[in-house]
Amino acid sequence: MSDLVQFAKDNEIAVITINNPPVNALSPGVPEGISEAIERISNDPEIMAAVLIGGGRTFVAGADIKEFGKMASGKAPRGAGMLPFLLRVEDSRKPIVVAIHGTAFGGGLELAMSGHYRVAVPSAQVGQPEVKLGIIPGAAGTQRLPRLAGVAAAVEMCADGKPVSAEKALALGIIDKLVDGDLLAGAIAFAREVASKPAPKTRERNGKLGTPEQNAPIFTAARENARKKQRGLLAPVAAIDAVEAATKLPFEEGCKVEQELFIKCLMSDQSKALIHVFFGEREVAKIPDIPKDTPLIPVRRLAVVGAGTMGGGITMVFANAGIPVLLKEADQAALDRGMATIQKNYANSVKRGRFTQEFVDECLKRIEPTLSFDGFAAVDMAIEAVFEGMALKKEIFAELDRVCKPGAILASNTSTLSIDEIAATTSRPESVIGTHFFSPANVMRLLEIVRGKKTGKDVIATCMQLSKTIAKIGVLVGNCRGFVGNRMFGPYRREAQFVVEEGASIDAVDKALFDFGMAMGPLATGDLAGLDVGWRIRKEYKHLEKPGVRQPFAEDSLCELGRFGQKTGAGWYKYDDQRQASLDPVVGKLLKEWTTAAGISQRPISDQEIVDRCIYALVNEGARILEEGYALRAVDIDIIYLNGYGFPASRGGPMWYADTVGLKKVYERILDFQKHHGELWEPAPLLKKLAEQGKGFADFNADHGAAA
Ligand code: 3HC
Ligand code: NAI
Repeated sequence: MSDLVQFAKDNEIAVITINNPPVNALSPGVPEGISEAIERISNDPEIMAAVLIGGGRTFVAGADIKEFGKMASGKAPRGAGMLPFLLRVEDSRKPIVVAIHGTAFGGGLELAMSGHYRVAVPSAQVGQPEVKLGIIPGAAGTQRLPRLAGVAAAVEMCADGKPVSAEKALALGIIDKLVDGDLLAGAIAFAREVASKPAPKTRERNGKLGTPEQNAPIFTAARENARKKQRGLLAPVAAIDAVEAATKLPFEEGCKVEQELFIKCLMSDQSKALIHVFFGEREVAKIPDIPKDTPLIPVRRLAVVGAGTMGGGITMVFANAGIPVLLKEADQAALDRGMATIQKNYANSVKRGRFTQEFVDECLKRIEPTLSFDGFAAVDMAIEAVFEGMALKKEIFAELDRVCKPGAILASNTSTLSIDEIAATTSRPESVIGTHFFSPANVMRLLEIVRGKKTGKDVIATCMQLSKTIAKIGVLVGNCRGFVGNRMFGPYRREAQFVVEEGASIDAVDKALFDFGMAMGPLATGDLAGLDVGWRIRKEYKHLEKPGVRQPFAEDSLCELGRFGQKTGAGWYKYDDQRQASLDPVVGKLLKEWTTAAGISQRPISDQEIVDRCIYALVNEGARILEEGYALRAVDIDIIYLNGYGFPASRGGPMWYADTVGLKKVYERILDFQKHHGELWEPAPLLKKLAEQGKGFADFNADHGAAA
């Protein structure tokens, strides 16, 4: 028997245990091991029934995702082998009781549904999350799930990929019994109860498949939902088609439809990108020079300095995670304002059903507003989120150095300032780090963790771990201006302005990038974030601009007119009381005047040029960042852009997207932009090198630099 599957007997009940850590994926060897075990129980007259269970922390979390890359490139057969394997399980004459703890996801749930009964612990979850990887269930999940759970639930689970709790799965009919206490003992007892009964085959249970009249509105609503909420994605639509096939065709025919759709999705660029994202989100946690066993600093109490937009959000994030927060402000009015915003945000979360009132009450109890540094000696970490200004930050850090205990982490939420310069004002630069949250901090998933030259490894390891505790995705970056995300965002938004100044209409620019997949166009994003932020930064850094190099002027000119974006009711667009945007003819007229005065001739600009100018500006800056070592890997940049800037996951992030296009093509396009638009488009040396070598960013691993 395969090492990955163990066989044992409890008198007349066989126990088949899958042991393929960490998540019991159905890697090669696992199906073979289970098949052998089933053969054994069918040949053993003593055995009446079997329990199939996962060893370790979970049942089967799915097919082995690493195999998909091999399948797509033809290095491994394309998955159809799973279907006969599951038929063998289902055709066992002796009942098989599947015992679920942890997660039965994807192929794991498909395996469970091929068993004859399913029992689960209350904390278990089941789901068909394949769409999140750009594929659909490929082992009859779309055919067996509607037979157990009904069509509406199956469509929802397969098309949006969200798991359901054991309790819900019980109500839906996916599982037969909840087991409190020891799962194996409960499953064996259940197997004894059903041992002498016939083994029901899921594929023959057609009672929940509904009529065409009942199903038609379900599929129409699901397709509409997918069109709106999963814009441009192939897999959700394919999943709906496959479940529909289950309602119209015999099981075997339905499986054929599912296979075809599965392969089509597997071969798509979307699936390759989403699988890259799945592994990328886990890869960013791995820091080459920081071993996994680096001792962590326990963070049991926190202080936040500044109760403004960011400080308030950060406070909520930690309070939600059960960590008490001391929230310090400069004066009573600001403190009251900050607390009122926190209370309002929590009230909205209760209204929207995100949190219960009890949970919110507990969170609010954990927040202690204060005007002094008393109590800071007891905190394990302090996060500064005061106005963006070096002098003020230095003042705060000198104070933190004085009041915080030795070993406490001193973090800044600065979005542009040097962590090293801030650290230098303290007697303990090794304790200083950047924790760059994104706005709104209680919503956005990204956390850039900024490593200073002297930041201690224990401090970095703690912040990386802490990002998980607070349900963020932490990415380690080096200390350069704007760090990774904002440094790249500058050239992106610069090009968005340039194309407008050259003749593209405002809504055409936003639409082209929205259609590319961005959550929002760059100009609308500027209005949302506040155009004045960039305006102020540009004024501060004016002296660094190279004379004679073209700079965009449209946003600065809008700001000079007091058009800061949504907050002033006008920016690129004008906004009504409900913050609904519409084009403002005044801006069109002004742009004409400004560009005429600047001598910029207008021309028609294609959507393709808009997208290439903006996205390749990201890529070119990303290449510099990578080469300079401010990001550890190309995938780190991708994860930053997906989680902080609304880049479409189905394109894998800017660096992955460039690799997909081909770096040679990207490089040549950038050379062309350089010819027409000058030195701002000088290709990054790394891009040039990789393009000439026929390589991609994924081939480059920085082994030096500030983030390493
Ligand atoms: N295949 C291969 N590796 C997997 C895997 C899978 N299905 N699921 C998880 N892993 C790996 C992770 O990459 C990670 O590896 P690392 O330690 O080297 O970084 C390790 O297992 C642990 O994973 P997590 O860090 O994610 O552990 P968590 O405890 O936080 O989460 C989980 C566990 C909820 C199971 C989460 O890993 C998960 O959601 N996994 C993917 C589930 C999934 O998408 N299943 C469907 C697969 S497609 C399929 O089944 C097709 C079928 O229809 C034919
Ligand atoms: P904000 O203006 O909303 O809040 C700053 C708060 O700091 C104010 O409430 C102010 O009263 C308080 N403050 C000033 N001096 C203080 C002192 N001595 N002690 C205690 N509190 C003091 O600013 P915001 O937007 O929250 O920004 C804070 C920091 O976060 C800045 O460094 C900014 O660059 C950064 N940041 C901002 C983002 C955003 O989108 N707003 C995103 C990411 C980072």
